[in-house]
Amino acid sequence: MKKIYLYGNWKMNKGVGDTENFVNGLKSEIDKRNGIRSMLTSDKLEIVIFPSFISLIKAKEAVCSCNLEDINVGVGSQNIFYKESGAYTGEISWAMLQDIECMYTLIGHSERRHIFGESDELISEKTKSALENNMKVILCFGETLNERENGDTESVIERQIVSALQGIDKENPMLDRLIVAYEPVWAIGTGKSAQPEDAETVCSFTRDKLISLLGSERASKCPILYGGSVKPSNSELLIGQENIDGVLVGGASLDPVMFLDIVQPFAL
Ligand code: PGA
Repeated sequence: MKKIYLYGNWKMNKGVGDTENFVNGLKSEIDKRNGIRSMLTSDKLEIVIFPSFISLIKAKEAVCSCNLEDINVGVGSQNIFYKESGAYTGEISWAMLQDIECMYTLIGHSERRHIFGESDELISEKTKSALENNMKVILCFGETLNERENGDTESVIERQIVSALQGIDKENPMLDRLIVAYEPVWAIGTGKSAQPEDAETVCSFTRDKLISLLGSERASKCPILYGGSVKPSNSELLIGQENIDGVLVGGASLDPVMFLDIVQPFAL
């Protein structure tokens, strides 16, 4: 069975206390579910949570004190800037994240693109800098409803992926730290997930693009996640698709029981 990636993007939810409660709850749920525990310990499942900046240290501490880090449960940042330090009010750097051994970051989430106006160029700078500095990058992309209805899904996705990776030599080993997430904007937070076959069509297109950009060996190893209203009732069919290696979950990642239920069908 393929390795599954279960990533939880908490967005602007959960302060420090709720973060600690979540991690403790996650630990006790994992303890109850042998199948999930053995997927984690045999590297068939990787879980990463992405709390707000203020809760990152607490999440790291709680994951370590619950011994979850040893079994493939990690902590990541929802955002990152491309400079190491300096006059960049409100931003966070890879150096700060690495100070607390937080080695994952989301980049280019649609809320960053559409609410905060992040451009393809900025996303490209962030992607390069984070990869160069040893971060694992989850590069998010996806079309709006309007773009889908105009038949522009593939061209939008191609533009977002190509521009994010522009200037990176395809032989550069840092590309082994790249993970990508297809998140159609119309499916995020709407309760309306993409149909599994439609998500697969775009993820398969994504795999082809990655092959041309990274070469087939690296592209075949690059995890492709789907995100957008993933929940326990639709996860099995989505993750079951050939080119979907896992899921990036928003709303349903806020509760440890619901979060683990997303991968429960794959636990033996
Ligand atoms: P959602 O969010 O699961 O709440 O739709 C997904 C995301 O934005 O990553």
